[in-house]
Amino acid sequence: MKKLKAGILGATGVVGQQFVRILSNHPYFEVTAVTGSTKSSGKTYNDASDWSFTNFLPEEVNNLIVLDTDAKALLRNDIDLVFSALPASVAYDLENQLASAGVPVFSNASAHRMKESVPILIPEINPSHLNLVSSQLYDGGFIVTNSNCSTSGLVFGLKPLMDFGIEDVVVTTYQAVSGAGRNGVGSMDILGNVIPYITNEETKIVQETKRILGKNENGKIVPASFDVNASCARVPVLNGHLESVVVQLESEFSVDQIIETYNSFRGEPQTLGLPTAPTKPIIVKQEPDRPQPTRDLSLHVGDLGMAVKIGRVRKHKNRLNFFLLVHNAIRGAAGASVLNAEFARAKGMLE
Ligand SMILES: NC(=O)c1ccc[n+]([C@@H]2O[C@H](COP(=O)([O-])OP(=O)(O)OC[C@H]3O[C@@H](n4cnc5c(N)ncnc54)[C@H](OP(=O)(O)O)[C@@H]3O)[C@@H](O)[C@H]2O)c1
Repeated sequence: MKKLKAGILGATGVVGQQFVRILSNHPYFEVTAVTGSTKSSGKTYNDASDWSFTNFLPEEVNNLIVLDTDAKALLRNDIDLVFSALPASVAYDLENQLASAGVPVFSNASAHRMKESVPILIPEINPSHLNLVSSQLYDGGFIVTNSNCSTSGLVFGLKPLMDFGIEDVVVTTYQAVSGAGRNGVGSMDILGNVIPYITNEETKIVQETKRILGKNENGKIVPASFDVNASCARVPVLNGHLESVVVQLESEFSVDQIIETYNSFRGEPQTLGLPTAPTKPIIVKQEPDRPQPTRDLSLHVGDLGMAVKIGRVRKHKNRLNFFLLVHNAIRGAAGASVLNAEFARAKGMLE
């Protein structure tokens, strides 16, 4: 089978480097174009990536010349789809231009996420949202987004609980510095410190969670009706967002029942056997002091950073308490986007 030619927008950053790693030897896609800012364009990818986030720069991408992040430059390169790891301000126009030129765009940026016709897709959670793209007015292309990095973990903790009736959700995050990008947080600000504020993060978590867990009614998303209340902090951890979650449930439940519900949770990517899908989307940690970013993010067979880890499952009255851990740059970013493209291909949307 011929592989589809993929461009990576913002390939030299935290998320871009994860795209390069995940797409190396991918069965459906091959990276044929990479872009960066004016600081990187014109250099080889190897020279432009003067720091390595993943410790993995594959041969076939190392020697590609980094292109300007510009629609014309990309379209000259005969690409079949793009993955976007651009800052939202840069992504907005460029993603529109590429979709209008017939290119499918799988984006990490928040620029188009809340548009009515753009899905925030997580195929295990809301596969029916993919067909929102049929109402996009682009000529052949389309835009599919994945969620903000904290939201992408939270919805795995919530989706399996929906049969118990969710009344409200309170989430407190402990977010890694890599979530802010290569130059996001100054070392003097974060070392030995905790910053109880992340710009726009709490609003994104509330809006995106309710939208992802909402129903697709005739091509319009009706957001989930329960309340979500988020508080976010940046902590001096390199990778992995830890989240403390408290959920008020309508039905009676036991902790064992919830653990079983998480353990048995599967989605369409698992049924379809998609290459980036983890064997189990949720891994329940039984130890009393887990999950932890330094111990539970490691990549191994069956979980290449795509499984969400849940632990410390407890009951207080009719409230469920637990911690979850999500790899912000993989399940929260590049891996999520690649899984979305695999899912779109499985649904016949990528030729
Ligand atoms: N980090 C995460 O965990 C995470 C998770 C979910 C979503 N996201 C989203 O993913 C996107 C990328 O995040 P990141 O963490 O990878 O950021 P990053 O490390 O700062 O990388 C940004 C990338 O965009 C390029 N870029 C920056 N300004 C540009 C401009 N004006 N024109 C063209 N290219 C430009 C950079 O190129 P140079 O290297 O040449 O400057 C780099 O390749 C953002 O929208 C972010 O919100 C990030």
